Amino acid sequence: MAEINIRKVGKTYGKTTIMDGVSLDIHNGEFVVILGPSGCGKSTLLRMIAGLEEITSGDIAIGGKVVNALEPRERGCAMVFQNYALYPHMSVAENIGYALKVSGMPKAERLAKIEVTAKSVGLTEFLDRKPGQLSGGQRQRVAMARAIIREPKVFLFDEPLSNLDAKLRVQMRHEIRRIHNTVGATSVFVTHDQHEGMTLADRLVIMNKGTIEQIGTPEEIYDRPASIYVAGFIGSPAMNFLPGRIGPDQNRVVLDDGQSLDLSGAARAGAGQLVQIGLRPEKLTFAPAERAMLKARFDFAEELGSGRVYHLKLEDIPLSLTSPEKRPMIEGEVVGLTFAPDAVHIFDGTSGLRLATTRQTAQVSAMA
Ligand SMILES: Nc1ncnc2c1ncn2[C@@H]1O[C@H](COP(=O)(O)OP(=O)(O)OP(=O)(O)O)[C@@H](O)[C@H]1O
Ligand SMILES: [Mg+2]
Repeated sequence: MAEINIRKVGKTYGKTTIMDGVSLDIHNGEFVVILGPSGCGKSTLLRMIAGLEEITSGDIAIGGKVVNALEPRERGCAMVFQNYALYPHMSVAENIGYALKVSGMPKAERLAKIEVTAKSVGLTEFLDRKPGQLSGGQRQRVAMARAIIREPKVFLFDEPLSNLDAKLRVQMRHEIRRIHNTVGATSVFVTHDQHEGMTLADRLVIMNKGTIEQIGTPEEIYDRPASIYVAGFIGSPAMNFLPGRIGPDQNRVVLDDGQSLDLSGAARAGAGQLVQIGLRPEKLTFAPAERAMLKARFDFAEELGSGRVYHLKLEDIPLSLTSPEKRPMIEGEVVGLTFAPDAVHIFDGTSGLRLATTRQTAQVSAMA
């Protein structure tokens, strides 16, 4: 086990800065997932922790010791990649034990360790096979075993499940979490799949273009996204955003389509301020006209089996609502919508940052 401290780390390639002042403290034994779209710098950050990529500025410490100048093998990290990187000509047993062989461990001891490790990931019966004779999931297990056998302080995973089919991904996800819990190492897991991130992480790190947008538990990030970027990235279907302005008395927001929404004095924002109102599709429900807080026109519906995604419009602004209910609806029909007051997220229309709301402040002070 080891904590990892990333302090103001930057990375430039030539004149291009791809990472800027990234700071992150990962606790001993924690499972942290780095989540973000393609090209935001997830792999680069992981490779800098592993020592496979030099850092341009800042410090990285593992177990309290700055490792900037240490070789990858001196850092106590084991990395698991998407493409497994197994040796095709070696058997499963040889692949798993390779690092121990290189380090000079006597054969008998090595074989015993290979056996125990293979058992822990369910590979006992495949030890004599070559990687080419394994399924994708089994190859992924070999890659895991090869990492586990080195008893690393830190596991670094770079999208290790991307090549697997949906069912196997879920299964391997649980397996990885189980191994993390049993081995007791610190894990950093990179993915662009929000479901994978939400289910695996003790804490999520949301990255955007080489910077960290938010760090928090999956629940914190879902319930209180710090920005429109985070709010739009986490949640499926994505959060709806309705542009508007805070009204003259600050109790209401006037949406761009002319409707006005009751905020009951919740917004800590000045009259006239541009805002984006965030509403998650799963927090919206249909309501009869007299109870409706918003009105929208029905556009089309997508069948999910378990329910539907209803696509609506407020003039030109799209709005989606998910519901287990299967309502017969006609294109263009006006429907009433309602939602709980705490389902409303308010973001600054210019900076995209979350605006503090008095209601949430009241909740926080009640808890303090
Ligand atoms: N050797 C390099 N030279 C120049 N730019 C690079 C180099 N390696 C990576 N980059 C750039 O750094 C940025 C971050 O890349 P990185 O591989 O860390 O992204 P990522 O978040 O892992 O993306 P993905 O989800 O597609 O794997 C990208 O814009 C990429 O083009
Ligand atoms: Mg990557």
